[in-house]
Amino acid sequence: MPSSVVAASPKVLNILDKLHAESSAQESSFSIFTWWIRKQLLSLFTKEIWSSRDDDYMRDKFIALEADKSEFLYLLARSTGATCIVEAGTSFGVSTIYLALAAGQNAAEKASSFAVSPEQAPKVIGTENEPSKAARAKEHWKQAGEEVEPYITLLEGDLRELLPKEVDKTDRIDLLLLDIWTPMALPALKIVQPKLRHGALIIADNTTFSRANYKEFLDYIHDPKHGFKTMTTPFRGGLEVAVYLPSENA
Ligand SMILES: C[S@@+](CC[C@H](N)C(=O)[O-])C[C@H]1O[C@@H](n2cnc3c(N)ncnc32)[C@H](O)[C@@H]1O
Repeated sequence: MPSSVVAASPKVLNILDKLHAESSAQESSFSIFTWWIRKQLLSLFTKEIWSSRDDDYMRDKFIALEADKSEFLYLLARSTGATCIVEAGTSFGVSTIYLALAAGQNAAEKASSFAVSPEQAPKVIGTENEPSKAARAKEHWKQAGEEVEPYITLLEGDLRELLPKEVDKTDRIDLLLLDIWTPMALPALKIVQPKLRHGALIIADNTTFSRANYKEFLDYIHDPKHGFKTMTTPFRGGLEVAVYLPSENA
């Protein structure tokens, strides 16, 4: 059933509904469960958090942020008026649709009350390493159309190489979604941090389920000298919601 939380046309709501259904069907399959168990067992011996075997396995998997978390993300983005957003981990572009809707709607509201400078124009910077996933994401945004597609800039490749230049071009960043393999979470945060505005949000998925793998990232955001106030919210697997408030931590 299409969401009543998100403001969007029936066409976009139906696309989101269909994409979430495909993603959930994949995630509830036996194959993903056995992959996860095998991975946990292997990592006990190898101490490897992520390998190229995992990349191969994940190549055709959505691993989309669940619908309830996506709606919460949309509400957070709307309530904070976020217009410049970075998404670490785009996959087939499901969460990106929510972020683009929020950024576009926030910018439209600001434009009706005062002039919007080019830096404030709505922008969601997506990042996807896997070319076939990037291609599918772009198809989905095209289908979603003008409520979504114009606001997304997709960086196709490793975010550690591509994101710094794109972040440099921004005036300030309002929200960072970390929905990526856990070893990438801290590098992505460190790239974006110099441009985070006071009060910016950092949302990271699965911080309870993958707590051990998130250790470096969680240690970093819990260290008061880095300027974050953070809480693990009780969504399935845990959803970290951190706020960047540097002066209050100094
Ligand atoms: C959990 S999925 C993202 C799901 C997406 N946020 C959604 O809700 O639809 C994580 C994605 O991050 C991508 N990824 C992993 N490492 C990356 C890197 N270094 N640079 C860019 N993308 C990366 C993976 O290929 C994968 O598609």
